[in-house]
Amino acid sequence: MRGLPFFCLASASLYALVAMSLGIYMGASHDHVLAPAHAHLNLVGWVSVALYGLYYHAVPTAAETRLAKIHVAVASLGVVLLAPGIALAVLGITEGLASIGSLVTILSMLLFTTVIFTGRKTA
Ligand code: HEM
Ligand code: HEM
Repeated sequence: MRGLPFFCLASASLYALVAMSLGIYMGASHDHVLAPAHAHLNLVGWVSVALYGLYYHAVPTAAETRLAKIHVAVASLGVVLLAPGIALAVLGITEGLASIGSLVTILSMLLFTTVIFTGRKTA
């Protein structure tokens, strides 16, 4: 596996490692305040990005498109903005980063939806 599927699964596994480390820290410290950041790093980072990787592995014609690369770049940006953004929001520091991260993340899903529907013609 290489190219876009590899990038997705490699980055997703790194998100999982960071999110699980945070989960272990929360469990050990009995301080669950960062649970929403942990949850979304796992779900928007590990689970969603791994699914993108498996999709692009299953549909190589879609993975080769420019739109797919833009989608993965925007999705990656969304993860690295949203998860720390949620942490800052629940700590009461700022909601700005979470707001930007959520808009970038939903934009990435719009791009993925477009990839799926336009990819039907070639897949
Ligand atoms: C080493 C692995 C993991 C550890 C030690 C861990 C630990 C934790 C802890 C301590 C909480 C807070 C629970 C609470 O406050 O009630 C939590 C919440 C959560 N975790 Fe994990 N977790 C792990 C992996 C995962 C994975 C792989 C996922 C998803 C793919 C996940 C999804 C969630 C979600 C969605 C919540 C929020 C649940 C809620 O608010 O009701 N976790 N986790
Ligand atoms: C634009 C993307 C997203 C935004 C802005 C968002 C926002 C939120 C918010 C505001 C909450 C309530 C948190 C709280 O009460 O502490 C929440 C909870 C939750 N979300 Fe999301 N979410 C997003 C994407 C997702 C995705 C893609 C998944 C699953 C694949 C997901 C799974 C969950 C779960 C399981 C909870 C309950 C656990 C918790 O309270 O942390 N979210 N989300």
